[in-house]
Amino acid sequence: MAISASNSSQAAPPVYSDTVVRGFALFAVLWGVVGMLVGVIIAAQLAWPELNFGLPWISYGRLRPLHTNAVIFAFGGCVLFATSYHVVQRTCQTRLFAPGLAMFTLVGWQVVIVLAALSLPLGFTTGKEYAELEWPIDILIAVIWVCYAIVFFGTVGTRKVRHIYVANWFFGAFIIAVALLHIVNSAEIPVSLTKSYSAYAGVQDAMVQWWYGHNAVGFFLTAGFLGMMYYYIPKQAGRPVYSYRLSIVHFWALIFTYMWAGPHHLHYTALPDWAQSIGMVFSLVLLAPSWGGMINGIMTLSGAWHKLRDDPILKFLIVSLSFYGMSTFEGPMMSIKTVNALSHYTDWTVGHVHSGALGWVGLISMGALYHLIPKLFGREKMYSVRAIETHFWIATIGIVLYIAAMWIAGVMQGLMWRAVNPDGTLVYSFVESVKATYPFYVIRLMGGLLYLSGMLIMAWNVVKTVQAGKPEAVRIPLVTAHA
Ligand code: HEM
Ligand code: HEM
Repeated sequence: MAISASNSSQAAPPVYSDTVVRGFALFAVLWGVVGMLVGVIIAAQLAWPELNFGLPWISYGRLRPLHTNAVIFAFGGCVLFATSYHVVQRTCQTRLFAPGLAMFTLVGWQVVIVLAALSLPLGFTTGKEYAELEWPIDILIAVIWVCYAIVFFGTVGTRKVRHIYVANWFFGAFIIAVALLHIVNSAEIPVSLTKSYSAYAGVQDAMVQWWYGHNAVGFFLTAGFLGMMYYYIPKQAGRPVYSYRLSIVHFWALIFTYMWAGPHHLHYTALPDWAQSIGMVFSLVLLAPSWGGMINGIMTLSGAWHKLRDDPILKFLIVSLSFYGMSTFEGPMMSIKTVNALSHYTDWTVGHVHSGALGWVGLISMGALYHLIPKLFGREKMYSVRAIETHFWIATIGIVLYIAAMWIAGVMQGLMWRAVNPDGTLVYSFVESVKATYPFYVIRLMGGLLYLSGMLIMAWNVVKTVQAGKPEAVRIPLVTAHA
């Protein structure tokens, strides 16, 4: 099927619904700064515990879930909404289906974020990691998510081109899977407006929680961001996707495999051994689709490698894929039971998390936003390209400091905890391992500070770009499809 586009009709063609995309893009930058600032505060508290000043609202236990919720759901979530709404319109050559409903998702998602920012420091929590918010907020999230699905799939359904571009498959899978995960894992029995208990108990509760937790990584922090990769890398590089056929294989292999890997979070627990082994085997299999996708993204640059030299946005996008490759190699290794016996409970896990979170999720989000924001505000490029370059290097050095410190600390902790004297007694007390970790916590804090500084530079650059430009209505090209 050949597709030709033209703007030459007499009646002005309709414009894309971009107001909501602009809103989500700007909120993403704001929440990025807030979430990373909270990350820096808790990193400092781990080095200097007195930094909570005796106030319960800013104690480590309350700020930690605030950090994870802010960076994953506020920052990551807003980037996902912005890019999926942007990409689905461009690749389907049509406006958003039900723009009013899309606006509701923008406002509703910000309300959820504010409620989270209030309720978590106040100490209201379900206690389930990444699903801490209490039941009234859970219901609001479910309603917003259903509206999101209606807008997204409605837009795909009313598309003006026959083909559904692969990025939309990834965004679509992310939307469906997150709805399923959220609804099943949030089944709970309310006892008051601010307290509920999980509908599941014991090991079933743990299994459901980590089926959710792992697929939150797989679908919230991975599938949607792969959707971004398949749109923004070809766009920024000016090259087609390296292998479209591989992208389809990548899609089906990835979404099939992720669903089964959750038990690797529950090695050596009361979960039946066979279930733990299934989790391990599927995690090892997951290496193949993950690397297939990474290679497809990086090789999209073949023939245009020179562009990496002077395009800092491409640097963000491509280096994010290297971190993706690194964390999806490390993850399967950590899922091997004998390796997990060393890594579990240590800072190695935190290092793995942040090589994925800062390196993959953070950098690809920043690259996509740098690509998107000038276009949305009628400018050819960001206010300062040099500031993008500076941001890239500061962020990359910050990531390396963060994850190297955590890897060394993690392996050291694991080895100290298992060291035994000939008579079977422990060589080190737990407190000795905490003391030995101290310098690494300070290095991690420095890495976090650098990463946050980069984000502040981005916020300044975005404000300047928005001030210098103005929201521009982009017309939808008229499409004629020939069989
Ligand atoms: C300035 C940047 C950041 C800093 C300084 C930072 C710092 C921290 C710290 C200190 C913890 C607690 C670790 C522990 O309990 O031992 C943490 C946890 C976590 N952070 Fe960050 N973070 C940053 C950015 C991010 C971003 C951008 C994401 C996601 C996109 C993220 C996702 C997470 C997750 C998922 C956890 C929980 C890890 C686990 O349970 O193993 N962080 N972060
Ligand atoms: C092939 C892909 C991956 C596999 C097989 C994998 C595997 C693992 C394993 C085995 C753990 C440690 C579980 C434990 O000992 O408690 C873990 C933790 C984690 N991983 Fe991955 N990982 C993968 C990719 C990623 C990516 C790309 C990200 C981030 C974007 C990520 C985020 C996390 C988080 C947040 C945790 C900590 C969960 C918690 O305990 O709170 N993973 N992963």
